Amino acid sequence: MSLFITFEGPDGGGKTTQAHRLVDHLQSQGHEVLLTREPGGTAIGEQIRRVLTDLSNTPMHPRTEILLFSASRAQLVHEVIRPHLQSGGTVVSDRFFDATLAYQGYGHRLDLAALRSITTFATGGLIPDLTLLLDLPAEEGLMRRKKHGVSSRLDAYNLEFHQRVRNGYLELAAAEPGRWIVLDASKDAGALESEVRKLVESRRPKPAG
Ligand code: TMP
Repeated sequence: MSLFITFEGPDGGGKTTQAHRLVDHLQSQGHEVLLTREPGGTAIGEQIRRVLTDLSNTPMHPRTEILLFSASRAQLVHEVIRPHLQSGGTVVSDRFFDATLAYQGYGHRLDLAALRSITTFATGGLIPDLTLLLDLPAEEGLMRRKKHGVSSRLDAYNLEFHQRVRNGYLELAAAEPGRWIVLDASKDAGALESEVRKLVESRRPKPAG
C-alpha cells in the first residue's frame, strides 16, 4: 500500500539528512521508495528552484514566489509523486505544500485561505499521509544554516520572519494532529533517526494474518 511522508520545518532543522536516512532505511528493507524535494524534484522544478534561490532575484514579490513554488509543485505531483503512489510505492518529500502555508502565509503574512486554494489547485488535492515537523527555535536554525555557509535569496529573511514561520508550523501541526508529528530537532541526528523510523513503521499497514 502506498504511503506519502513529508518532512517540514524551519531552515537548519536537519530535515534533508533525516529524509535521506529514512529513505536509505526503507530501501534496505525492500520498499519501493522515492525521495524528492521542493522546490525542485523534476527537471522543470529544478529550473524553477534556481529562479527562486538566485540572489540577483531579490525584487521578487511574495505573490510571484507562491506561484513559482506552486508551479514546481504541480509538476512534481503530476510527474513523480502521483504515479509512484498509484503504483503502490512510498514517497518521501523534503517539504510540500505546508511550506507555502508556513513561509508565505505565516512568514510573509499572505492570506491563508487564498494560499490554500492555490496549493490545492497545484496538488490536485493530494495530502500527505504523515508529516514530520522537525521543530527548533528560529535562532538555532539560522545559526546552523550559517555554519554550513548556505547562501540563497531565500536565506535573506530576518529572525522575526523565521519566528513567524516556526510558530506557523506549530499551529498547522496542532490543527491536524492525525497527520502531523512534532519532533525536537535539537536532538542528535541518530536519536531523531530512530524516532522517525519507529513513527513510520507504526503507520505502515500490518501484513494480513
Ligand atoms: P530547503 O532549504 O528546504 O531546500 O527550502 C528552500 C527554501 O524555500 C526554504 O527557505 C523554505 C522555502 N520555501 C518556501 O518559502 N515556500 C515553499 O512552498 C517551499 C517548498 C519552500
